Amino acid sequence: MTQHTPQPEDVFAWIDAAERAREQAGLVRTLRPRPASSPLLDLASNDYLGLSRHPETVRGACAAAERWGAGATGSRLVTGTTELHTELERELADFAGFEAALVLSSGYAANLAAVTALGGRGTLVVSDAGNHASIVDGCRLSRAEVAVTPHGDPESVRKTLAGHAGRALLVTDSVFSVDGDAAPLAAYAEACRDAGAALVVDDAHGLGVLGEGGRGALHAAGLAGAPGVIATMTLSKSLGSQGGAVLGPAKVIRHLVNTARAFIFDTGLAPAAAGAALASLRLLRREPERAARVREVAADLYGRLTASGLTAARPDAAVVSVRAPSASAALRWAADCREAGLSVGCFRPPSVPDGISRLRLTARADLTGDEIVRAVGTVLRTAPAGATDR
Ligand SMILES: Cc1ncc(COP(=O)(O)O)c(C=O)c1O
Repeated sequence: MTQHTPQPEDVFAWIDAAERAREQAGLVRTLRPRPASSPLLDLASNDYLGLSRHPETVRGACAAAERWGAGATGSRLVTGTTELHTELERELADFAGFEAALVLSSGYAANLAAVTALGGRGTLVVSDAGNHASIVDGCRLSRAEVAVTPHGDPESVRKTLAGHAGRALLVTDSVFSVDGDAAPLAAYAEACRDAGAALVVDDAHGLGVLGEGGRGALHAAGLAGAPGVIATMTLSKSLGSQGGAVLGPAKVIRHLVNTARAFIFDTGLAPAAAGAALASLRLLRREPERAARVREVAADLYGRLTASGLTAARPDAAVVSVRAPSASAALRWAADCREAGLSVGCFRPPSVPDGISRLRLTARADLTGDEIVRAVGTVLRTAPAGATDR
């Protein structure tokens, strides 16, 4: 005879209340599956150079999967390092101007790996208040003493570093995700040099966009390969693939291989992703003008939007962020854009540290002049009351 166990109470009842609170605040997030060929004009993705569907990138992915298999088959220290991974690491380091590179399964993992392996008990980690969530999580996991300094404020960094004896590092995005503004890298580097601290820069938004031929923000600032400087990056934005990397002196990379848990206990990057990233990197070397073009498109978008009365942050790379009057207005605005054929991002709390919601438009090197005009027209036509100053 089967025994009936009593129906348990809903152990997730608390989620109903949290869900209601999110609804009331206009903060519900939902997944919208994207069809393989979408009629929408895309200003929401991070495919800055338009390479994710480029035939060479796709061929790179296919050829790698054919040759090496669909998965990496193990963690990097066991079976998950193929010759392709090593080739990608060599070319990535060479392109961005660093001695060595280590490829991980995502940019998120790259930040966790760098900050935890270089942080640790007794270390001071100074973190810019505008940093990406993956850096914040790296700080939390590092068990280091963490000091968050005001956004883009080298003086605060200097003071904070001066108050600490012993090992220290400063970690910052090169270009911040929310407003697309650049970090004061030269001043940050000087503060680190003076204090004997390491500098870790997440160049997720700089690779492929900033610096000569897209070599990144550190290259542009003359800091690539400098002693004491580490870069982290993602392969999922400009390179149109998936994965992440840490770049720096060879001994730092060896240290990560031996100690970074986000590297050691994670399956290696899938060969298709490594092959696609390598193909994109080679393409970018051959076509360096793509980097300049994406900056030009961002400046054009910004100029047209602000000339029409919208409030936007001046873009230092590809992200153009437009202020919305409220979270629900931002959500409605993005939905109206979508209905009018334009896909844009929408940033709301908790993704915005200052609580101000925004439409997030990303420039792409392959956008045509007509598409830019159409996109700006749509954003303006659908703008909610209070979004423009006229
Ligand atoms: C600044 C920054 N760092 C890290 C990441 C994480 O990279 P990934 O998506 O490859 O995990 C992102 C975006 O996703 C990012 O914008």
